[in-house]
Amino acid sequence: TELVFSGVQPTGNLHLGNYLGAIKRFVEMQQRDAQCLYCVVDLHAITLWQDPQALKGQIREVTAAFLAAGIDPTRSIVFNQSQVPQHAELAWIFNCVARLGWLNRMTQFKDKAGKDRENASIGLYDYPVLMAADILAYRATHVPVGEDQKQHLELTRDIAQKFNNDFAGSILAHGHGEQFFPLTEPLIGGPAARVMSLRDGTKKMSKSDPSEYSRIALTDDADAIAQKVRKAKTDPEPLPSETAGLAGRPEADNLVGIFAALRGITRDEVLKDFGGAQFSSFKPALVDLAVETLAPIGAEMKRLVADPAYIDGVLADGAGRAEAIAAPTLDAVKDIVGFVRRG
Ligand code: AQP
Repeated sequence: TELVFSGVQPTGNLHLGNYLGAIKRFVEMQQRDAQCLYCVVDLHAITLWQDPQALKGQIREVTAAFLAAGIDPTRSIVFNQSQVPQHAELAWIFNCVARLGWLNRMTQFKDKAGKDRENASIGLYDYPVLMAADILAYRATHVPVGEDQKQHLELTRDIAQKFNNDFAGSILAHGHGEQFFPLTEPLIGGPAARVMSLRDGTKKMSKSDPSEYSRIALTDDADAIAQKVRKAKTDPEPLPSETAGLAGRPEADNLVGIFAALRGITRDEVLKDFGGAQFSSFKPALVDLAVETLAPIGAEMKRLVADPAYIDGVLADGAGRAEAIAAPTLDAVKDIVGFVRRG
């Protein structure tokens, strides 16, 4: 049976890339006959310093975004990572499985640590190992994520495989199948697997970009969306009539991709309608579509964050249900590794 896991960091500034690349797809996964777990990954968030008072609000805001987008907390398990101790516990064991050379290849660490790498937290470096633990504590089979997480998912598979090999004898001796940890499938795709900055079509839309104009926030109102799309960088050419014509035009490609993802169609279908059109006519259509999608989500988020007791209740309920799945995995892992257990 399928088990779906994914997470979003509560680091503020949730944007259209997070929605189209991840949260919208979390909602779609609920239609499959699978148990879905959606996690607010607060342990990941503190790999870069977070103001403690703000962090609480950010955790509730991501939870609100999940619910407002259509995740049903009775069908899916919605929780925050720090309430389920098995994530950190399994991460330690995986620290002893993962190799330094593997982590040294992680490009996100290089990007986020920047030039002053000596001063980055150990947590930032170890981020992908904790992510492997998030996924494998539930032995998740599928992980919907944006394109930027592809390398981390490959590392998750490497860790699963090495654990399965290193402990093969013990896994069998404890009565488990050879593939104790599954080789999790990343689900990356669609026209918005990588939404780019509105200011620079070669950089991904990101929470940490200092320019508000680089991203559409999930809580932006119609005026803000209209202004940001109007100012979005473009080139002087009209839109091409097919996708091939978007090559070498990153900003045009991005806006067409966003339109396609919002509509649930392909880039080619967008260009059937807008091929030959100028941005001056395409942008207003994009604004209408974005407002139509985001306005109800933003309004529902505002309503939900005004009721923190409700949100905290959803998270507590989710944590209990998540732990009920993760705890037996950790019990088995401790036996497999060879720890003496409390009777
Ligand atoms: N631009 C994007 N396009 C498509 N998907 C994206 N995701 C993030 N940015 C884009 C996907 O959103 C999910 C949650 O991301 P995250 O919160 O774990 O962290 P992130 O990748 O660090 O997100 P940001 O928003 O870009 O923040 P910063 O500025 O810190 O780098 C993931 O599934 C991610 O793929």
